[in-house]
Amino acid sequence: RGKRAFIAGVADDNGYGWAIAKSLAAAGAEILVGTWVPALNIFESSLRRGKFDESRILPDGSLMEITKVYPLDAVYDNPDDVPEDVKANKRYSGSSKWTVQEVAESVKQDFGSIDILVHSLANGPEVSKPLLETSRNGYLAAISASSYSFVSLLKHFIPIMNPGGASISLTYIASERIIPGYGGGMSSAKAALESDTLVLAFEAGRKHRIRVNTISAGPLRSRAAKAIGFIDMMIDYSLENAPLQKELTAEEVGNTAAFLASPLASAITGAVVYVDNGLNAMGVGV
Ligand code: NAI
Repeated sequence: RGKRAFIAGVADDNGYGWAIAKSLAAAGAEILVGTWVPALNIFESSLRRGKFDESRILPDGSLMEITKVYPLDAVYDNPDDVPEDVKANKRYSGSSKWTVQEVAESVKQDFGSIDILVHSLANGPEVSKPLLETSRNGYLAAISASSYSFVSLLKHFIPIMNPGGASISLTYIASERIIPGYGGGMSSAKAALESDTLVLAFEAGRKHRIRVNTISAGPLRSRAAKAIGFIDMMIDYSLENAPLQKELTAEEVGNTAAFLASPLASAITGAVVYVDNGLNAMGVGV
């Protein structure tokens, strides 16, 4: 039987989530995605209207199939957590069952089990503010959407993950080195995500034989990255200073995720894997 993957954080064809979906599909996996509720309508209608068809082409010439798109808001674990104003919001009231627990239940009802869980989402409302100017709410919101969201997804999906399965998240070097401009507590959120990768690797490994790894990716001009405002500078910096002086493609991150999710990586867990043209290894810019 082919493997089944649930990829949280796909809302267009520009980000890492889409590229990971493609690499997993090319390797034969069935693809389910979780799309942020406010982005759901435009993503689904663009898919239907063929706007992504060119990006759907796999190496063998066929088109990637997304078996099902689930609305998801990973900052809410169950309906009791959802504030009234969000419930009443038109973009949210148009969909249902989009809290983490409900999505896991729906996937269980629809498909029974999955093998691969991918977390490719982050949000920090104050990302453009320096940490010294970040509010408590902004900081906690970054951690909730970017770090706890992974704990929650794994917690709710692990009961339906087949033993031997794997989970993967996306992190950024700002967790361990100073990257001015990656503010709002987003650097803190990535540090939490990486630390949790270790603890969750232990707990999920011992209890469920599930592997937990994270990919520390180099800069990509995704929708989320453009919102931060310094992505072009980061791409130029990498081109100038990394050991490999080439633009990083989302496909290279996708292929690493497919490797980490596969039996080829059966002894790799609790790892931060750098896919950044080697930039992390530099001590000075030259
Ligand atoms: P993206 O915009 O393609 O992906 C972020 C996704 O998160 C979007 O689809 C957005 O709708 C979704 N999202 C935001 N809040 C959500 C919530 N509460 N519930 C569910 N979904 C939510 O951008 P990108 O850059 O591909 O981001 C994917 C991951 O890669 C993130 O974890 C990001 O931090 C990480 N990353 C990105 C880098 C870059 O340069 N683009 C570098 C290193 C890591």
